[in-house]
Amino acid sequence: MKLCMIGTGYVGLVSGTCFADIGNQVICVDKDKNKIDKLNSGISPIYEPGLNELIKKNYTAKRLAFTTNIKQAIDSSDLIFICVGTPTKKGSIKVDLSYVYKCSKEILKYSKRKKILVTKSTVPIGTGDEIEKILKKKKKLFTVISNPEFLREGEAIRDFRYPDRIVIGSNEKKAFNVMRKLYAPLVNKGSKFFTTSRRGAELIKYASNAFLATKITFINELANLCEKSGVNIEDISLGMGSDNRIGGRFLRAGPAYGGSCFPKDTKGLVSAAEKYKIDLSLVKSVIKSNLNRVNLLTQRIHKILGSNIKNKKISFLGVTFKPNTDDMRDSTSLKMIPYLCKQGAKVNYYDPSGEKIEFKKIKNCHYKNNIRSNCINSDLVILLTEWDEFKSIDFRKIVKNNKFKVYDLRNLYDAEEMKSKKIKYYSVGRPNIN
Ligand SMILES: NC(=O)c1ccc[n+]([C@@H]2O[C@H](COP(=O)([O-])OP(=O)(O)OC[C@H]3O[C@@H](n4cnc5c(N)ncnc54)[C@H](O)[C@@H]3O)[C@@H](O)[C@H]2O)c1
Repeated sequence: MKLCMIGTGYVGLVSGTCFADIGNQVICVDKDKNKIDKLNSGISPIYEPGLNELIKKNYTAKRLAFTTNIKQAIDSSDLIFICVGTPTKKGSIKVDLSYVYKCSKEILKYSKRKKILVTKSTVPIGTGDEIEKILKKKKKLFTVISNPEFLREGEAIRDFRYPDRIVIGSNEKKAFNVMRKLYAPLVNKGSKFFTTSRRGAELIKYASNAFLATKITFINELANLCEKSGVNIEDISLGMGSDNRIGGRFLRAGPAYGGSCFPKDTKGLVSAAEKYKIDLSLVKSVIKSNLNRVNLLTQRIHKILGSNIKNKKISFLGVTFKPNTDDMRDSTSLKMIPYLCKQGAKVNYYDPSGEKIEFKKIKNCHYKNNIRSNCINSDLVILLTEWDEFKSIDFRKIVKNNKFKVYDLRNLYDAEEMKSKKIKYYSVGRPNIN
């Protein structure tokens, strides 16, 4: 099939490349010339394991192309996927749909024959209806479908190839057949193909993300209780998660949830519900609790280092919201690091995905390009992101400051082992054995 992906970010680039890899002709378009130039010279603009190789393979096989020319991309395709960002509007909890509507107008302008328009971006209930209104001048040319994306950064290629489910929402039955054909290579391997109304598909995406955010927040709040009551949160996660009705995933206590989806989609869901005068009080509490969590963790740092942290040397291991991605959107580090620097602490950080533009202008914050130079002479090492290379660090060997402490926000290390090495160690929701 001939596909065009509008928006070549985490979703458009990964799914476009994977669609090409299962035999389709794909053209990825983006308004960001820098991104497209990089891709045309064989460099992926994002960090996603295995993606570079897959891009090269399909680009060389001429199944995958990159352009800034939206007219050409629309002209040459039968299926157009909208994969542009849907961030939260500044100063509000509403979803900013301007990118979606702008590219819908371009689709209207450049379409001269029948097209299937598929929304992959996460959009509130009724956005498909709004897109149809934009397209009404050439109504007969278009079928508008919702196909929300569920891939996880860091595991995106695997998630594309083996999705738990493929959700297709349409008000026209014949559209399901086209999508079934497109996804046949995945469905034939066992992925569930689930069809519903277009509004249904739009809501499934928000409902899924809000539920997962609730699970994380629930276990994070219980971790607070565990810390005070001498119980180990990991036993609680295991004991609860072994119940098939609950399931063990997303039950690991840690920092506040972050990333490009959960924070914005929980807000987006509350705002969409408000339009229908429905109060999603549970989701609202989740958002509030998650915001409080960052404050709670910074208070904990003060407890560990004392109220005056001026000139204390703090080293962050990892700053992205999760491992195997370079995505910084809504990472806990974006709040923690500026706060600590403002209090006069000297902050270093190392992240395997490289230096971050977000911290470049912050006084007292410096990027180090390896674990050793990041942690040497540190007063406090904070493990924020559980990248593989942080899993077996010999802290005694690299920090070299006799009085250093480790605050492990992912419970990556063994508390007993830390104790045996006489390292002052703090983690999340586990009894303090120091
Ligand atoms: N990142 C994820 O893990 C993930 C997972 C599932 C769903 N989603 C959803 O998918 C959507 C895209 O997310 P993302 O993380 O890929 O965003 P992104 O910011 O990485 O990419 C969006 C891209 O769209 C481009 N763009 C915007 N307007 C354009 C236009 N008119 N023409 C051409 N290009 C245009 C931007 O330049 C950018 O490169 C969002 O709605 C998001 O919620 C994201």
